[in-house]
Amino acid sequence: MTPYQKVKDQITATPATWLVTGAAGFIGSNLVETLLRLNQTVIGLDNFATGHQANLDEVQSLVNEKQWQRFNFVQGDITNPDDCQRVCIGVDHVLHQAALGSVPRSLKDPITTNRVNVDGFLNMLIASRDALVKSFTYAASSSSYGDHPALPKVEENIGKPLSPYAVTKYVNELYAEVFARSYNFNTIGLRYFNVFGERQDPNGAYAAVIPKWIAAMISNYDVIINGDGETSRDFCFIDNVVQANLLAATSSEDARDSIYNVAFGGRTSLNTLFSALQRTLADNNVCYEKQAIYGTFRDGDVLHSQADISKAEKNLGYRPEFDISGGIARTIPWYISKKHSPHEQQF
Ligand SMILES: NC(=O)c1ccc[n+]([C@@H]2O[C@H](COP(=O)([O-])OP(=O)(O)OC[C@H]3O[C@@H](n4cnc5c(N)ncnc54)[C@H](O)[C@@H]3O)[C@@H](O)[C@H]2O)c1
Repeated sequence: MTPYQKVKDQITATPATWLVTGAAGFIGSNLVETLLRLNQTVIGLDNFATGHQANLDEVQSLVNEKQWQRFNFVQGDITNPDDCQRVCIGVDHVLHQAALGSVPRSLKDPITTNRVNVDGFLNMLIASRDALVKSFTYAASSSSYGDHPALPKVEENIGKPLSPYAVTKYVNELYAEVFARSYNFNTIGLRYFNVFGERQDPNGAYAAVIPKWIAAMISNYDVIINGDGETSRDFCFIDNVVQANLLAATSSEDARDSIYNVAFGGRTSLNTLFSALQRTLADNNVCYEKQAIYGTFRDGDVLHSQADISKAEKNLGYRPEFDISGGIARTIPWYISKKHSPHEQQF
């Protein structure tokens, strides 16, 4: 039995109360879905800055009525300390996902990104500490590696941040470290690497590459590759991220006050990704015959990224179950179904 299966059995046997911030977002809504399926009580906090009611509606459609009754959604803002205090009451485990993502967004408006990602994070840390929660796990980011050239990325070796977003995510790690030292409040930061999967927003200027390209290909629009296409990423399917969160929340004290890479541990170039999406769409009877169009490199982007996941494997029992192909095979049908559903958002 895998460590993840053990944890799922254990939390099902002894249900707890979980707070998921950013619950209406991509990663948050997937966490909520898994927790509800495991018969947990879940509080969700979101202000719909980038998340959608449709994500929560979809979760409702995927769980049974009894499970859905264990979900309490609070529309609130992590930049408001009162909202944070309110949702932490009676909570066992905090999975803090709310933030403004996107490097380009942070370059355009660093003040708002800082307010949400740093002030909001600090509010959540304080509220969670004061509520005496059992665990606090937060979404950190591979952007903390900045300009450090080494591959694969090892948690201890980071470079200079390349964007305001990266600064905010690194500041989260610093605050987390100080809360352990100053208040004995031990947290776990999960440095996510390019997460993808169902319910990731394909729309808007700040959409991530995989949902943006899938949506474009389904609609037969042009796909633009920033740079020469040899930029590479460690694309990580959402189920691996959910696994890491559950393992972190239930980990032993020894594993706490630490940062972990959460990725698959592979590296895929944008050119390879493009072909893989084209192939998997064809497997699903969507034929995209256009060539990709090459544009300029994006400011603030790192050229290559790949995680060393051995620390999470060793200390958390993390065993990613999906590689990029397995993840894409699960993801594409979801986007196709949205495209054709009259009730859902159209791309
Ligand atoms: N998706 C990735 O590849 C990736 C990579 C590294 C780190 N992360 C981090 O993971 C977390 C989740 O990202 P995601 O991809 O699900 O993005 P998302 O935009 O889908 O989800 C973020 C959620 O936070 C909510 N939110 C934003 N500001 C808020 C506020 N002030 N108060 C309450 N809620 C607020 C949004 O409405 C949204 O629902 C973020 O912290 C992000 O920085 C994501």
